[in-house]
Amino acid sequence: MFLDKNSPAYLGGLLEMANARLYPFWGNLTAGLKTGEPQNEVKGGKGNLFEALYSDEQRLEQFLRAMQGVQMGNFMMLAERLDLSKYKTFCDVGGANATLASVVAKRHPHLTCSSFDLPQVEKVAKRHVEAMGAGGKVSVLNGDFFKDPLPQADVITMGNILHDWDEAQKKALIKKAYDAVRPGGMFIAIEGIIDDARRKNTMGLLMSLNMLIETPGGFDYTASQFTGWAKEAGFATTEIMPLTGPTSAAIAYR
Ligand SMILES: C[S@@+](CC[C@H](N)C(=O)[O-])C[C@H]1O[C@@H](n2cnc3c(N)ncnc32)[C@H](O)[C@@H]1O
Repeated sequence: MFLDKNSPAYLGGLLEMANARLYPFWGNLTAGLKTGEPQNEVKGGKGNLFEALYSDEQRLEQFLRAMQGVQMGNFMMLAERLDLSKYKTFCDVGGANATLASVVAKRHPHLTCSSFDLPQVEKVAKRHVEAMGAGGKVSVLNGDFFKDPLPQADVITMGNILHDWDEAQKKALIKKAYDAVRPGGMFIAIEGIIDDARRKNTMGLLMSLNMLIETPGGFDYTASQFTGWAKEAGFATTEIMPLTGPTSAAIAYR
């Protein structure tokens, strides 16, 4: 189930990407710590991580497979635990190859589900929706979450999105999610949410360091930081739902 490359729960993608990309980049950790600058393909100011990743089809597919392996268990647990009975629409923003939208659509067939991401991802996402057995149940939507409004929905999710960006960009994305979530709905971030003392979630802290290597301003964050940003955007209350291993769902209710 986890080691067969053709299984949707294949876990090896992150190791393959670590081998091909992250291992050499972590060799420059010292330079990253001293300068605060990314140490990957965008080192030296060569544009945005996703433009760099997506300029090569093989690298794009490898990245999406890595993300899927990391998040599949979390997505399955989230779809199992959430009570979505009173909602009608669900959109996963930055949904990559539409794994989360497919898992949710299959587990909660009453929902109209979509996955929103950059146009470069569309072809892989459509193919993956079919492979997951969710064909006809998930719409793959194209857009840029900084430039375009997000699709209106009762439930908006972002898996490993906020940690890619600096604090101002995180806040802008949460505000956009607030504007797109219908009253009574919720916004959910699925990431390695760090304990408030920044002492226990080793994987979350290491992921934050990985964001230093990969992005100009990204970092992982604590539950209280999430609550502060969500309340500033207008959300009424928040809750943390632990998922598998180091990952949690940080939920903000509108
Ligand atoms: C770290 S991946 C996370 C993928 C997936 N949500 C998960 O949990 O595994 C970040 C995603 O954000 C998408 N993304 C990056 N910049 C974007 C933008 N400006 N607009 C829409 N999507 C974007 C990428 O294409 C990628 O799929």
